[in-house]
Amino acid sequence: MGAHVRGVGTALPERVVTNDDLAATMDTSDDWIRERTGIRERRVGGTTGQLAIEAGAKALADAGVDPAEVDLLVLSTTTPDQRTPATSAAVHAGLGLRCGAFDVNAACAGFTYAWVAANGMMELPHGPRRVLVIGADALSTITDWTDRSTAILFADAAGAVVLEHRPEPNLLGWDLGADGSLVPILYCDHGDTLKMEGREVFKRAVRAVVASVENALERAGLTPDDIDVLLPHQANIRIIEAVCSRLGIPADKTVNVIETTGNTSSATIPLCIDAARSAGVLHEGRIVCMTGFGAGMTWATTVVRW
Ligand code: UT7
Repeated sequence: MGAHVRGVGTALPERVVTNDDLAATMDTSDDWIRERTGIRERRVGGTTGQLAIEAGAKALADAGVDPAEVDLLVLSTTTPDQRTPATSAAVHAGLGLRCGAFDVNAACAGFTYAWVAANGMMELPHGPRRVLVIGADALSTITDWTDRSTAILFADAAGAVVLEHRPEPNLLGWDLGADGSLVPILYCDHGDTLKMEGREVFKRAVRAVVASVENALERAGLTPDDIDVLLPHQANIRIIEAVCSRLGIPADKTVNVIETTGNTSSATIPLCIDAARSAGVLHEGRIVCMTGFGAGMTWATTVVRW
């Protein structure tokens, strides 16, 4: 069987924060941020729950699926609104769902982890037939807005997909990984803000993503040449360029949103799915590779026949 995308939805806060806005309050510049990250502006505002509900409702409407027809909600987030319950509980109520619901926290790799989990659960006896997978983060709530090494990167958004069980298998390959010894290079303690060793994360991210994509492709019996569309986590355009160059994937096969959204953690890959669909590149049968990495460190890749 396969978990096929039946609907997509996104949510971006209204407030736009440009690089010049940041340069007005800290020692940075539009030129530096654009050159070193590829980011021009980002959206800030809202809670994880609010953004997730908006994206989820749009995905359900896009799919033409009634909330009562959803069999499972999986919400990926790094920024839960409360310590307990999981933010998926508030989203469940906000969307009027009647199914099971749980959160996944695998940082920026979370949406891809959630996709694999949803696909696997569909294969269980009596498994769900329709799963709403949402990636939502309000990173602005844990960002130190006086720290130029993180404030320039992180922002808020949500993206959602309705995955539907169909007989044709479509998850050709996948890879989930973690290295918990790397907690100290990117973390946020309760009540505090994100702390990051940017250069170290950058270096390790490139290595982890390249290895993860290679592993998932090998399991699929494919090579980088077979990838039609690459939807990478949007952390820094230079990470994406380095990954593409190492894998020999032409840059025009990737779909990026980072220029206008910044790094929105769990939301970046579903935002890219939406952008790829709008760009008309997600034809049926195409080989689509989604790959993410984040705090933990965690990494996750899926190779899907669309
Ligand atoms: O979702 C996953 C989580 N995070 C990531 O993937 C982030 C990965 N890392 C990065 O994206 C990059 O490391 C950063 C964008 C955070 C930093 O870029 P970099 O090219 O690695 O810069 P750097 O830390 O090596 O710093 C180079 C210089 C330093 O000055 P000196 O020592 O050469 O004089 C920094 O102090 O740039 C300076 N700098 C800045 N200058 C202007 C650092 N941040 C800024 C800034 N504006 N915002």
